[in-house]
Amino acid sequence: MHSPTTETAPRGGVGGLLPALEESRQRTLALVGHVSDQDLDRVHSTLMSPLAWDLGHIAAFEDLWLCRAAGGLDLLRPDLALVYDADETPRADRGSLEFLRAKEVRVYMEAVRERSRTILDGFDGDEALVELVIRHEHQHNETMLQTLCIAGLLQERGPSPVPASIGPDMVAVEAGPFEMGSPGHGFAYDNERPRHVVDLPDFEIDRLPVTVGDWIEFMDAEGADEPLHWNGTTPDPRLPVMHVSWDEATAYAGFRDKRLPTEAEWEKAATCGALEMVGEVWEWTSTEFGPYPGFRAHPYREYSEVFFGEGYRVLRGGSWATSDRVASNRFRNWDLPERRQIFAGFRCAA
Ligand SMILES: [Fe+2]
Repeated sequence: MHSPTTETAPRGGVGGLLPALEESRQRTLALVGHVSDQDLDRVHSTLMSPLAWDLGHIAAFEDLWLCRAAGGLDLLRPDLALVYDADETPRADRGSLEFLRAKEVRVYMEAVRERSRTILDGFDGDEALVELVIRHEHQHNETMLQTLCIAGLLQERGPSPVPASIGPDMVAVEAGPFEMGSPGHGFAYDNERPRHVVDLPDFEIDRLPVTVGDWIEFMDAEGADEPLHWNGTTPDPRLPVMHVSWDEATAYAGFRDKRLPTEAEWEKAATCGALEMVGEVWEWTSTEFGPYPGFRAHPYREYSEVFFGEGYRVLRGGSWATSDRVASNRFRNWDLPERRQIFAGFRCAA
């Protein structure tokens, strides 16, 4: 189980950045170590990029933000900039791009990394950009795990069982203000800022995430669909339910005469310590992804701003596949309400 930090702050100074960068690369290469070149190059789902595209994109992002923006170098391969620009190339179209195939991409990754090592030796530039690059690679590792799951190539353990319930099923959170979002110092994504006071009425929130067993009751009673990837077999009923859409989670909550928590309720409960099991499955909230009051895009609009007001729903908490470095009580993830490929479950509020 992950133990998300209460605040999002870089761990260690410059000295810790290169080891962290190398650690994320070890993880990346380990994830695809058992995957054939053919499976790296192909499109497993139009919702996802080919895995080899993710690999090249990780390196291109590092070259752009670490080597160029923080290190002052020109791009190593300017000819690849457009191919790996996530905003210019929708996932569904990436299979037809001239991205570096599995046979070539590792060479490019290592060439960029060698530039990064040189830059970080005696580095006195913007550490936040390096941190951004480290976390970006971790975040793509989770995306790649989703693709591996769809491709039937997942070798990871998945989430842990939800502990048997002791005590009340729901936790009461008192009315009152709390500070939402990340502080102005240290590393945080732009969408977590600025920190601002939110005053909420009292509410109750499930102490634990909804389980597979809970979901089976819903299926039996309401004829609801089985989650993605079950394929007619039922996982351990004690596991948190995973691969359900926002639409399905909302329907389940109605079945229990409850609702999804708002994003603010989720964060207040998490920062009061009222939630258990953070870091097993992402948790859908009822809130549409949007800016906090006073939001400023940083360092680029395409990380968050272009997704605001487009019908995306916020997910919180992080999953078993999310790096400890990325997961925090303040971190905001988002996806469309019909999507099920994310390692997402939920808990209810009332
Ligand atoms: Fe990316």
